[in-house]
Amino acid sequence: MGSVIYLDHAATSWPKPPEVVEAMKRAMEVAGANPGRGSHRMALNASRVLYNTRRALAQLFNVNNPNDIVLTGNTTEALNLAIKGFLREGDHVIATMVEHNSARRPLEYLKRTIGIKVDYVPVTMNGQVDLKEVEGLFNHQTRLVVCNHSSNLLGSILPIKNIGELAASHGAILLVDAAQSAGMLSIDVEEMKIGMLAFPGHKGLLGPQGTGGLYISPDIDVEPLMHGGTGSQSEAIDQPSVRPDRYEAGTPNVVGYAGLDAGVRKVLEWTPEYIYRHEWELTQRMMEGLASVRGMKMLGPELGEPRTGIVSFVVENRDASELAFKLDREYGIAVRAGFHCTPLAHMSAGTENTGAVRASVGIWTSKEDVDIMVEALAKIQA
Ligand code: ALA
Repeated sequence: MGSVIYLDHAATSWPKPPEVVEAMKRAMEVAGANPGRGSHRMALNASRVLYNTRRALAQLFNVNNPNDIVLTGNTTEALNLAIKGFLREGDHVIATMVEHNSARRPLEYLKRTIGIKVDYVPVTMNGQVDLKEVEGLFNHQTRLVVCNHSSNLLGSILPIKNIGELAASHGAILLVDAAQSAGMLSIDVEEMKIGMLAFPGHKGLLGPQGTGGLYISPDIDVEPLMHGGTGSQSEAIDQPSVRPDRYEAGTPNVVGYAGLDAGVRKVLEWTPEYIYRHEWELTQRMMEGLASVRGMKMLGPELGEPRTGIVSFVVENRDASELAFKLDREYGIAVRAGFHCTPLAHMSAGTENTGAVRASVGIWTSKEDVDIMVEALAKIQA
């Protein structure tokens, strides 16, 4: 492949730090056995990989007990486990208009199958909620609040701490979708009153695809999504009650989690604050540059306001997919176009019929990358 300017970090970060690649190679060599099954050295090494990964994640999110972190294949699996494992017939849920389909589809599925009720809090065009509107939606049946930490279309950052306080004061649990924030925004599950935190391993945490996780507070009872072998309590018919075994049936992605462990350690070294600042500065530069491109309309927070590393836009009389195709084929620039699995956010931004182009930056993105993209769009629109 020729050189690429990769501006699709909101989908998956790339490239990965060399330490991640090295850790995965090493895991293949020295931890290539099945963790939790057998007591030979390689099996113990594999178990150690999983424990170390959980420990690094616990440090990042201020989780007391690493065993309250379930390792999953991605955020979607984590959200499905949280939503389907926690909700019961008759429950009421508050979610927002910036939820990704990974939260919305399981909620809608439970609405159809067991009759839960869901209210989606409206968001402004810029992707913000009004806390009074959130508060007004609680009722006696409200057991769960589902909130995207940052919109994968708009880059807006939602007030998780305030929403956590509202949920707690109404006796409800807060489930946060950290797909666009883990590694870029500091997350403290205690301080933010987060009951469950779903996160990807392959975006801001710099690990490989096929990794993610769910933190479940020790006070919450969640049914497993999967039943099967765990290597523990093999004689019992039921899934073990001990965490994390209760939620981790089947052979796990040890090599992937070795990479995730190395990725999280890089994030801890750089710090989410530094990564956020780097990405924010790049989005501001991009927005300033794009402002002079003919027909350009940017979505999400205004210049100068907080946002994660996402700048989505529409260009008058241009099809979003065609624009992304041109950027790729003629300029070697990778962006994502379309509806980004978040139709309600598009409705809020007024782009439900057009879709949008999304450029998203990461830790490796440079000012030059941003300038090249801006120049390419200026040429296309000249
Ligand atoms: N949810 C990811 C995105 O927004 C894949 O692109």
